[in-house]
Amino acid sequence: MRAIQIVEETGPDSALALVELPEPEPSHPLGRAGIESSVVVEVHAAGVSFPELLQTRGQYQLKPPLPFVPGSEVAGIVRSAPAGARVQPGDRVAAFCALGGFAETAVAPEFFTFALSPELDFAQGAALILNYHTAYFALLLRGRLKQGETLLVHGAAGGVGTAALQVARALGAKTIALVSSEAKQEVAQRAGADHTLLLGEDWKDQVRELSGGGVDVVLDPVGGDRFTDSLRSLGEGGRLVVVGFTGGSIPEVRVNRLLLNNTEVVGAGWGAYVMSKPELNVEIGAAVNGMVDDGFVSPIVGERFPMERAADALKTLDERRATGKLVLDVRPT
Ligand SMILES: NC(=O)c1ccc[n+]([C@@H]2O[C@H](COP(=O)([O-])OP(=O)(O)OC[C@H]3O[C@@H](n4cnc5c(N)ncnc54)[C@H](OP(=O)(O)O)[C@@H]3O)[C@@H](O)[C@H]2O)c1
Repeated sequence: MRAIQIVEETGPDSALALVELPEPEPSHPLGRAGIESSVVVEVHAAGVSFPELLQTRGQYQLKPPLPFVPGSEVAGIVRSAPAGARVQPGDRVAAFCALGGFAETAVAPEFFTFALSPELDFAQGAALILNYHTAYFALLLRGRLKQGETLLVHGAAGGVGTAALQVARALGAKTIALVSSEAKQEVAQRAGADHTLLLGEDWKDQVRELSGGGVDVVLDPVGGDRFTDSLRSLGEGGRLVVVGFTGGSIPEVRVNRLLLNNTEVVGAGWGAYVMSKPELNVEIGAAVNGMVDDGFVSPIVGERFPMERAADALKTLDERRATGKLVLDVRPT
């Protein structure tokens, strides 16, 4: 099969090679010990995300020995599944494989493989798990976002950002999207934001005005020096959910601010939390598929790349040019 390998940790320009490899063994390291529990997927599209970019520099926590095939999530058709699995050979699926997705064949644990709605194409399927499961986990389980509340989303035209806007809508919340350009504003609008704001000096005041005194939840995949203003954007009892640090620096909190305004900073690390909880993944997968069926979730796919241009896809993320989810067309249709 054709696959992309990371062959050295020198950044997206030089780390990747397109290679021919034998088909993978039909067992996944996250599968349950002693039980046949892995699904083999004929990959049509692979999602491109920050973990793959960080892996080209050896900066991600999951650090297999070189060379290895990156690629945390795919969409395609089931080739084989264990007896009793929720999916069958021939089914269209979205699957989270953690590694190995940038290849014509990938293997995922059964509990991380979900039927793909006929409403969604394979590129959208490759955008569904990492971002939407994270958005659901971060907003509902960590941020306790409720119907009628208001949410501010940073990096709102990105993969996690667009997913959060759609999941929040499905939960009955109002959304304010903060982005860095007019083109990104349009993407956030397409993702269903109730209000979109451009980053600038006075974004915090605009957020406070739009939300009538402060939002209930902030979802922050960006971090950096806007963090203090995010805290100032919260209303009483507000929660700031920390999801990532694309801005480059990890902010520090002066905790007196939390005391003065009765607010919280909450961490949301989806992977670390769900990896060992198969039933929770099945529950989140069903909830997200329900949001697809109800018309709230329809992943926004940005630029698409053939396998040969995987490096360009990673550079697009690195240079802050991505909108929506970037996808590799592994088997173009
Ligand atoms: N905690 C978890 O469980 C979890 C799960 C999935 C992903 N993540 C993390 O969430 C973050 C966002 O992922 P994503 O897929 O949404 O990324 P993305 O599609 O590239 O979006 C990230 C956004 O960050 C903003 N940004 C600000 N400064 C940036 C910079 N220097 N370089 C790049 N982007 C910058 C950009 O928005 P503006 O230009 O509009 O500011 C960009 O749209 C990543 O750090 C990822 O690792 C965490």
